[in-house]
Amino acid sequence: MLDVQANFQLGSLNTLRLECVAEYYVCVSSVEELKEAVLEAKRRRAEINLLGGGSNLILNRYLPGMTIHLGLSGRSVSEESNDHVVVCLQAGEDWHDAVLWANAEGYFGLENLALIPGSVGAGPVQNIGAYGVEISELIERVHVVDSQSGKNESLSADECGFGYRNSVFKSPKGKHLIISAIELRLSKHPHVTISYPALKDALPTGSVSPAQVLAAVIAIRQSKLPDPTSEANVGSFFKNPIVDRVTAERLQGEHPGMPQYPVDANTVKLSAAWMIDQLGWRGVEDLGVSISPKHALVMVNKTARYASEVIEFSNKITSSVAGAYGVVLEREPELIGTDTSV
Ligand code: EPU
Repeated sequence: MLDVQANFQLGSLNTLRLECVAEYYVCVSSVEELKEAVLEAKRRRAEINLLGGGSNLILNRYLPGMTIHLGLSGRSVSEESNDHVVVCLQAGEDWHDAVLWANAEGYFGLENLALIPGSVGAGPVQNIGAYGVEISELIERVHVVDSQSGKNESLSADECGFGYRNSVFKSPKGKHLIISAIELRLSKHPHVTISYPALKDALPTGSVSPAQVLAAVIAIRQSKLPDPTSEANVGSFFKNPIVDRVTAERLQGEHPGMPQYPVDANTVKLSAAWMIDQLGWRGVEDLGVSISPKHALVMVNKTARYASEVIEFSNKITSSVAGAYGVVLEREPELIGTDTSV
């Protein structure tokens, strides 16, 4: 039996710790319960909102419809050869715990993605990435429940339409697909990806093991990013903007110290943190919200109660960057719900 609750407080279930009331809330722990919750939402003519670890959401005061909290747990090996394993992780598993588990089992490839907050099911949605690795490179299959048909299906990596912090699950074409589990192809032979400059600098020269990479990524993140368990935040608040080559060259001429990362022959990724930092925002506090003194891309909620304060402050930063560099910053976390309780 599903335990659907009305007017449910989500304050402790989002890492920005914003006050939000869900019209209906239900936590599901199996695919069968997830399907039932989808049917229940249909019966109530309620739109569906999904909640995983709540670490990439900005919740407005009121969330109309049925909030489905994905609590499915379990990790297993679904295929194994001499060289590889395919691991199946249920959507409600904690991402960092899954990274630690895989490394301890001798399944390699996830080390660079350590300490990314949130649940497994949220990983493919924004194609989580850090230190030169994106989850899309490891995805074998993504299992979903289609909230329109009520049926389960699975998607190959190609069908997930992955891009930088983007996937089909964010687009109108795939918004109705609810991730219930993911399968990742990992290597049984130790191998490492250490091309990202900050990671390379933190490691000894010569051959390094996956365990050393894991430890280095954890150490870098702990020193450079505020811990969401003690400081309310959602990781990077803005995406790194991607601009055309001509714009990048103009900006490089005007700002010789600006970090730039070529994406392909025509586009270049800029560093949002660098621009925000250059404009003096690092450590600034306003409206109960601050830009972390540790990292200019992370917004920390000090005392704000509602999303409106976070958005008002972030708009000041967006305008400041647009004014100085002519670059429009896009938010990384998704803003959902309404500002009123009507
Ligand atoms: N920088 C500053 N000031 C700062 C922080 C950074 O000038 O306060 C400069 C750095 O010196 C560096 C550049 O900005 O030249 C890039 O900084 P960093 O290596 O920290 O990476 P990032 O581009 O700011 C991205 C991801 C992070 C991920 C890191 C490491 C996005 C939006 N963010 O940050 O992901 O951990 O790379 O790979 O792509 C997240 O998505 O929540 C997240 C934390």
